Amino acid sequence: MDSKEPSMKPAFSVDAPSSQYLVYAENGLLDELGSILKTQGIDGTVYIISDANVWSSHGEQVVTSLNRNKLESRVFTVEAGEATKNLSTANQLYEWLASERCERKNTLLALGGGMIGDLTGFVAASFLRGIPFIQIPTSLSAMVDASIGGKTAVNLSSGKNLVGAFYQPKLVLADLNTLKTLPARELASGWAEAIKHGLILDSSLFYMFEENHNRLINLEPDLTRSVVQRSMEIKGKIVEQDEKETTGLRMLLNYGHTIGHALESVTNYSSFLHGEAVSVGMVAAGKISVSMGILSNKDLDRYTTVLTNYGLPTACPGIDPDSVLDAIRMDKKVKDKKINWILLTEIGQSFVSSTVDDRVVQDTIKDLCS
Ligand code: GLY
Repeated sequence: MDSKEPSMKPAFSVDAPSSQYLVYAENGLLDELGSILKTQGIDGTVYIISDANVWSSHGEQVVTSLNRNKLESRVFTVEAGEATKNLSTANQLYEWLASERCERKNTLLALGGGMIGDLTGFVAASFLRGIPFIQIPTSLSAMVDASIGGKTAVNLSSGKNLVGAFYQPKLVLADLNTLKTLPARELASGWAEAIKHGLILDSSLFYMFEENHNRLINLEPDLTRSVVQRSMEIKGKIVEQDEKETTGLRMLLNYGHTIGHALESVTNYSSFLHGEAVSVGMVAAGKISVSMGILSNKDLDRYTTVLTNYGLPTACPGIDPDSVLDAIRMDKKVKDKKINWILLTEIGQSFVSSTVDDRVVQDTIKDLCS
């Protein structure tokens, strides 16, 4: 079949200081991948980086669409899982690209979840001092969060995401059909990040999650597209205003992450998916906000119910509260020995505070762990 103009249109653009790019989020977009790349002026060989699971589900569809549009492709698949996101894998990718004689005019495609996006972005930012890359997120959390905003990184044995760069993609292409192959638990973990965007900045998005949990859990196409696009757009607007996390605005995206990261760390990343830990962390931050008298119990109950309706945990019984407190103190967001807490004043309104009383934090964590 010959190439033709794509029928799908971008949802919005991200106009960040360092770069402007389009974001597409549609059902069936992978079938139009080749024609969209062509209309964006991408030519020559594209280098796809994916993980073995994602590639076996979507690789054929991707290559068919590229071939139909006379785009050559090469692929490198890595093992799925966060443990792969390290300098040793990055080195394998550099050697592969060098052996393929990849040039600065070529483009990398990151086909996968957040791990693939972070790793590919890191390699793109550094190979030949920077080559273009495109995010093709296939998990919900990568769509609504990690694929937008140019945070790229690999892990060191001493910590996650310790080496990286802000390096924006040239394009973000999310095919919502890829969500259909995700296990329910992973989907719920992605919904946590999307609900977070409503909680911190957009009450009307939160109400959509509240009113429609059955339809969204079942991925009803039009509604899913609408809330995913809205959630992505909120992320994009934050990135436009605070690309490098210098003003505090982008920090709001860390709502629930201080305690969430601590829970992941004390359980060796084996009990909670990231979004599940963030869900517990968001309830914790809400309880802290209530204890400080700035959020109503009614709002906290309301969003705790929503998280439960999406199959997310809202407490962590059985976890040792002291180890959670120790892990919080070690978190990389502790600046000048102060923890930057993201707090809510109402649904859709958040701010950064470094003056939360230790006693309030301790009581909250004990309560969630009991
Ligand atoms: N995932 C948080 C951020 O991109 O800033």
